Amino acid sequence: MPEPGSRCEPAGLFRRRSQLQGMETAALDRLRRGLSVTDEAFDRCLPPRARALSAAQWTPVRVARCAAELLVTKPGARVLDVGSGVGKFCVIGALTTAGRFTGVEQRARLVEVARALVRAGRIPRCTFKHGNATDLDWNGYDGIYLYNPFAEHLFTSARQDDSIRYGLDTYRLYVERVEYAFANLRPGVRVVTYHGFGGTMPDHWRTLPVARRPDHLEFWTNTEASAPAHVQMSPW
Ligand SMILES: C[S@@+](CC[C@H](N)C(=O)[O-])C[C@H]1O[C@@H](n2cnc3c(N)ncnc32)[C@H](O)[C@@H]1O
Repeated sequence: MPEPGSRCEPAGLFRRRSQLQGMETAALDRLRRGLSVTDEAFDRCLPPRARALSAAQWTPVRVARCAAELLVTKPGARVLDVGSGVGKFCVIGALTTAGRFTGVEQRARLVEVARALVRAGRIPRCTFKHGNATDLDWNGYDGIYLYNPFAEHLFTSARQDDSIRYGLDTYRLYVERVEYAFANLRPGVRVVTYHGFGGTMPDHWRTLPVARRPDHLEFWTNTEASAPAHVQMSPW
């Protein structure tokens, strides 16, 4: 392993590493204490390039808190973020609920940022995997979160970079795999989507009303028994 700054260390990677080491964590401490945090404050925890993508790519703080609260029904509940980016949803969820959060993300660079955030903020119950979310078995989870992860295959405006091959076929394949996964999840699982996921929920899933629900957030469950008639959110 080359020393940082040695001639073997690519300059871009070194710059990125030092940015990750210098992360500011004030917003994370506020979240841990149950205090309000703006998106601007949270995004100061991110390196500049990840910060610049935030408005278009990462879940807003208010939405993340609401989604996490809906998905975590008991301490230790396991939540999967499908396409976790820099980990904003998982980190906020782990700091504001007693759930265990796992993010899976296809871009290694973003997984590196998310893991650095966890280390810098000493975030509990929060881990990240690098890979294709549609290859993963979702059955080990009590709750699933999706912030329209495949939109980048449809719209150039939703693209972060040129690191992956975009295509309508890939979009259709991923959406089909998600629909298949939802059709086969055990009863009692909860799903929250933000701006949807591009497909249709199977017939036995139903959406539930949520008081003070942020726009574009939808809450789903696949069982009558676990579906409260009306869910009341915290008044942040
Ligand atoms: C709109 S961003 C949402 C990020 C994060 N969930 C959040 O809310 O802050 C969608 C992310 O999904 C990732 N993604 C898209 N398709 C994926 C796949 N098949 N497997 C893993 N990650 C994927 C993209 O790389 C992108 O970072």
